[in-house]
Amino acid sequence: MNIVLGITGGIAAYKAPDLVRRLKERGGDVQIVMTASAAEFVTDTALQAVSGRPVRSNLWDKEAERAMSHIELARWADVILIAPATAEVMARIVSGGAPDLLTTICLATEAPIAVAPAMNHVMWSNPATQANRKVLEERGIHILGPGVGSQACGETGAGRMLEPDTIAAAVFDLGVGKGEGLLTGKKVVITAGPTREPIDPVRYITNRSSGKMGYAMARAAAAQGADVILISGPVSLPEPPGIEVRKVVTAADMFDATHECIGDADIFVAAAAVADYRPADMKKQKIKKNEESMSIDLVRCPDILASVAALDVGPFTVGFAAETEKVDDYARSKLEKKALDMIIANRVGDDCGFDSDDNSVNVLWADGEQRFAEASKTELAHDLIELVARRFYAARGTDTQPRLTVIANTD
Ligand code: CTP
Repeated sequence: MNIVLGITGGIAAYKAPDLVRRLKERGGDVQIVMTASAAEFVTDTALQAVSGRPVRSNLWDKEAERAMSHIELARWADVILIAPATAEVMARIVSGGAPDLLTTICLATEAPIAVAPAMNHVMWSNPATQANRKVLEERGIHILGPGVGSQACGETGAGRMLEPDTIAAAVFDLGVGKGEGLLTGKKVVITAGPTREPIDPVRYITNRSSGKMGYAMARAAAAQGADVILISGPVSLPEPPGIEVRKVVTAADMFDATHECIGDADIFVAAAAVADYRPADMKKQKIKKNEESMSIDLVRCPDILASVAALDVGPFTVGFAAETEKVDDYARSKLEKKALDMIIANRVGDDCGFDSDDNSVNVLWADGEQRFAEASKTELAHDLIELVARRFYAARGTDTQPRLTVIANTD
């Protein structure tokens, strides 16, 4: 992974050499771009020694620009990581200003950007910084941290840069689009997030699904080389790079979008929390509170997963079962009732499952099961996709990924 590491002027810059080492340990090729104020906290000599590349800092350095221009650098990057990121650099990225090399690269890149903020806790909670954070998130920029704890200024609060190892792991977790692996050449369709079923123009029925698990499954499948179509209900997650995302709102929209693209799919993963019922008819005008009580007529939504599993020539189907009790029993009965190839069961409730970053699951299929201990949804998704791929090839009669067969044409 080609990583442009932007270092800006905060005290946490002293951890940058360690961060470079952690990124390199994971296979990253790191090009450092530091701002003038970062040089007050860490030397380019140390950074050059650990990164193995000359440190870039000046937009107007003719020698360096001749070797690799700032535009080439922006294209070279698979990911841009800014750590530590000051309030100032966050504000500059929001404004679109590009007075130095780092912010120019941020404007010129199509690669995902991640920032690891580090600043005094009052600066972090300042409404200006929080507004900037929100804009960055809305634009799909990944915000890593900050952590909470004692700060260099002697105070305690939110604003510490995350530890270098945590940042490095998070950067490799971002997934940088399509890789090569077990699913190269395979088409995978995944549903994710909740659906919204309108009651009237201002109200709807929905659920607590954040979409995190489905998005993580999509990134993991793409990392294994699959062509992924992610059919997503309303979530506030950035669109993963290298994945075709189709946004939908209702269960009926999700059903239609799925059947539009399922024809030649190899694997279907239903991670969405689809509404089971929707209001029988959406009122055209806002409902007024004239009565002491009221009821809403609900009708069943189509079961997307069951409909895909029932196709004569269909993909390998993987369902999810979110249960509050008797998790394995209910999951196995869904596996059988919907005629699925696999089901991934997890317990949900106030303390786990929805909107959390971690999850633990049990995967069941006709003649087996495998338990996965609590892990981040990203880590879990990688393991789950590997298992899905293995079971997929086993079901299709090949134990591993099929080898390329070369047929000699003697004509
Ligand atoms: N699912 C679907 N379409 C629906 C409902 C669910 O594709 N209309 C999929 C989900 O994406 C998930 C699995 O089916 O993969 C969940 O099965 P389901 O029996 O619907 O679970 P619950 O809705 O939790 O069922 P119940 O409320 O009966 O436990």
